Amino acid sequence: MSTAAPRPIAFFDMKAQQALIRAEIDAGIARILDHGRFIQGPEVDQIEAGLAAFSGAKHAVGVSSGTDALQIAMMAEGIGPGDAVFLPAFTYTATAEVPLVLGATPVFVDVEEGSFNIDLADLERRLALVQKEGRLRPRAVVGVDLYGLPADWPAIEALCARHGMFALDDAAQAFGGALGDRRLGTHADAAALSFYPTKTLGCYGDGGAILTNDAGRAELYRSLRTHGEGKTRYEVQRTGMNGRLDSIQAAILLAKLPLLEDELKARARAAAWYEAHFAGRVQTPRVPAGASSAWGIYTVVLPDAAARGRVQDSMKAAGIPSAIYYPKPLHHQPAYAGAHAEGIAGGVPPLPVSERLCDQVLSLPMHPYLAEEDVARVAAAVIAGL
Ligand SMILES: Cc1ncc(COP(=O)(O)O)c(C=O)c1O
Repeated sequence: MSTAAPRPIAFFDMKAQQALIRAEIDAGIARILDHGRFIQGPEVDQIEAGLAAFSGAKHAVGVSSGTDALQIAMMAEGIGPGDAVFLPAFTYTATAEVPLVLGATPVFVDVEEGSFNIDLADLERRLALVQKEGRLRPRAVVGVDLYGLPADWPAIEALCARHGMFALDDAAQAFGGALGDRRLGTHADAAALSFYPTKTLGCYGDGGAILTNDAGRAELYRSLRTHGEGKTRYEVQRTGMNGRLDSIQAAILLAKLPLLEDELKARARAAAWYEAHFAGRVQTPRVPAGASSAWGIYTVVLPDAAARGRVQDSMKAAGIPSAIYYPKPLHHQPAYAGAHAEGIAGGVPPLPVSERLCDQVLSLPMHPYLAEEDVARVAAAVIAGL
């Protein structure tokens, strides 16, 4: 007797989503081919309005990627040489890359074990060290809502307000998440979004946006994304960059945005299924009190690197994909180690949680089109490998 092969489980599933909106996407692209405004077309204005309405932020500025969103937001503050930018050691490389590109110094901060986000006590400790040393000016904190879990924005904002620092939310993995009744994008001074295809709202190429409630900042972002343009096309007011969102990517986002609310609910449902399967057996993400995760990525914490290796093998044998976000903390990356040592030259405190998590985390399939039986199969493969 032959048994049917189990249905494949995707890590992210963009195909299932595309099947729902293929006609809108085709029509949206066709409209752009007809009107020919490939850059700064009407679709860009429309998606900016949609993003502002969805998040509750007063202004949304479409840009060319999440990385460029971070860069434009920091350029607008004039962040550069001599400035310290505090950010978690456990995040994607872009968060640290941007201050370095601008000539500023990243100061790596440890993260909390359960939420994976910046540890406020460690942030205060490092800020005090930078102030004591007096070499760098504390200018900004980049909080990252890792895997979709909101960072502690009220505490980060209060700290930044006390010390005159810019609070920037790297919400690349978290669009749709909320703290209390306010979505990410309305916390911090500005929030950077990525529309990389696998994000909670993704396009079919690179794209991003900056959300802010501050009209002055939004105007600067619009100028900086277009080579520092002034009121007229060839008036250059400041040094900017080519950081625009293109019309075709905006059209993809316009087709996808109406799905997002339901997709966020479906992600939360999948997370709850995981939670039920893993209860008492596997360490699952801790959603901070009053927060809702966007569940961009679903990550468990395993006892150690050996256990993680066994679980990966078990999942592979069952034909289920997994991924490690991230295998190395940023201060151990060859490109950043020098900046790390220089950040607090008088002796850098250790970053034990970030280092440990890099050995322990494992991300499991997470997308809105997972069925309960898919989650059950993933969980069984994880548990079998422990
Ligand atoms: C936390 C974080 N920050 C920034 C980025 C950069 O976004 P993009 O790939 O759109 O440049 C990403 C993208 O993966 C990310 O996960």
